[in-house]
Order: sequence, then structure tokens, then C-alpha cells
Amino acid sequence: MEIDDIETIAVLGAGNMGHGIAEVAALAGYSVNLRDIKEEFVQNGYEQIEWSLEKLAEKDIISDKKAESALENVSPYVGIEAAVGDADFVIEAVPEKMEIKKDVYDDVEKHLPDHAIIASNTSSLSITDLSEQTNRPEKFCGMHFFNPPVQMQLVEVISGGHTADETLDVTEALAEDLDKTPVRVRKDSPGFIVNRILVPLMNEVCWMVSEDDATVAEIDSTTKFDMGLPMGVFELSDMTGHDITYHVLEYMHEVLGDVYEPAPFLEELIEEERYGKKSGRGVYDYEDGDGVDIP
Ligand code: 3HC
Repeated sequence: MEIDDIETIAVLGAGNMGHGIAEVAALAGYSVNLRDIKEEFVQNGYEQIEWSLEKLAEKDIISDKKAESALENVSPYVGIEAAVGDADFVIEAVPEKMEIKKDVYDDVEKHLPDHAIIASNTSSLSITDLSEQTNRPEKFCGMHFFNPPVQMQLVEVISGGHTADETLDVTEALAEDLDKTPVRVRKDSPGFIVNRILVPLMNEVCWMVSEDDATVAEIDSTTKFDMGLPMGVFELSDMTGHDITYHVLEYMHEVLGDVYEPAPFLEELIEEERYGKKSGRGVYDYEDGDGVDIP
């Protein structure tokens, strides 16, 4: 299979990452089948794409015509057969649970053409383990986008233990065609490259709050205004989701050792379902305004 054989991309999961990836593929001119398990989920993802395209057009980053044609490229689905029956490439962005992903792959492979590649946007699970849940481990790899996909340049293309070179070549070529910069990750280790660096930082600031070494405001203003990061670390983890940080960290803790133990403050956020922007509350409160500090 070659990049020119890809016309239709199915994106599974219309959440934070899924709808953003679908938007990126639609902007590059692909026919995109966006699928989620409930009408309201897929509709919400579709509306977020619409909002984002309008925003990009308002700012003249793209033309109104480009925004319109990109939206026309997206077809929302709930049924799996319609979503993947004509797909040449699948990008899976469903919740980070092995059992959920396995069930999705089982359903997908009942209808997916044999030539199609499946790429997972997982940020926390082993690509080798995931590939073994499918009947095409050599046509399976990681394709890890960053939040927000439409604005972030990097894509990690991750090889699992069974991934064929051809699969990696096509996936890399696709990332380039989506106007992204792929980096090939040859080892399927916990957190791959970016999250192996970023997630310990997100955990460390939680340890600092847990141990009363610094406040959220002190940490975010220092990281944003002195370290040159575009956002405070807590602002960023509210955007990417503390549940995602926690999943990556649990896996790193299990495989790499105690230095990755989740901080009590992070545990508290998870227990209270304060996952960040997507749940209305994280370290900051998004219910009564955009990011008001929680005392
Ligand atoms: N589409 C279109 N516009 C969007 C948008 C989207 N999806 N999301 C936000 N915007 C808009 C906002 O509404 C705002 O619009 P406004 O100007 O009209 O108010 C504008 O973009 C934001 O503009 P800013 O000037 O505040 O910010 P920039 O545009 O300069 O940069 C950013 C925004 C690119 C997100 C920058 O802050 C950044 O790079 N942050 C770091 C992001 C990052 O590191 N992501 C990776 C996280 S790790 C990850 O995702 C992996 C996972 O596995 C955990």
C-alpha cells in the first residue's frame, strides 16, 4: 500500500483528539468518516470542527471556501460498518482502556478492507499489545497527535513489535500530507518520547502542590512567563486532561519504577473527576468562566 491509495480515513472517537484529527485530515482534502458510539458524541465533535474551522477562517489562516470544503469532507457516523467499510486508513482515538480498544478493533475488522492500516492515537498503551488485539499486527502502528491537533505540528509515528516497515512509511507519508512533521519512534516504550518527558513534569508540579512547596498560581506563572512555555503546566494539563496524564503515569510507574508514582494532588483530581476543560473543572474552573482559579 502507498500513500496514493489513501482516499478515505476513518477516525474512531469524536472526543478531544478525534475531532481535531478528523479536522486536520479534512483540511488536507481526505474524505473523513468520523465515528462515535452515540449520536450526541459524534454531533458534538462535528460542531467543534465547525467552530474551529470558522475560527481559522475568521483569522484568515484559511479561506472561507477552504473551511466549507473541509467541513463537507467530514461525514459523521454512529454505525461502524458505514464508518470503516470504505476506509483505507483508520485512526483510532477511543478511550484509553485496552478492553474498549479491543472491542472496537473486533467490530472494525468485521468490515474494514484488508489493505487498510489501523493507527492508534494512544498516549499510554503499548503499540505491540494493542496490535496483538487485531488480525493485522503488521498493519498496525501508533500515530500520536498533540492537542490541539489543528495547531500542533508534531506527530509521533510509533513502531510496535510487529509493525511492517511499509506501514510506518505510509503512516509517515500520511502525516506529512496532513501538513505535520512526523518523528519515527522506533521503541514502543511507556510514554513514547513526548509524554515520557512531559508527563513527569505534569506529575512533579502536582507533587509540589501536594507538599505545599508552591501554589498553582506560582507554578503556572513561573512556567509560562519565565521558562518560556506557551502555557502554564497546569493550564496545559487541564487542556490535555488529567485522566490522560494519570493513565500514562500509571503505566510508567508500573514499568519504569517508583519515581513515576502519581502525586496525591493528581489522585485527588482524578477522584473528584476534575479532568480539566473537558469535564468543566480541572485545576481551574471552566464552568463559571474560562479558567477561574479554584481556591
Ligand atoms: N481551532 C481553532 N482555534 C482554536 C482552537 C482550535 N482547535 N483551540 C483554540 N483556538 C483559538 C482560541 O479560541 C483562541 O482564539 P482567540 O484568539 O480568538 O481568543 C486562540 O486559538 C488561542 O490563541 P492564543 O494566542 O492564546 O494562543 P496561540 O494561538 O498562540 O497558541 C497553542 C495556542 C498552540 C495551543 C499554544 O498555547 C501551545 O502551543 N500550547 C501548548 C500545547 C501543547 O504543548 N500541546 C501538547 C500537549 S501533549 C499532548 O497533547 C499529548 C497527549 O497524549 C497528552
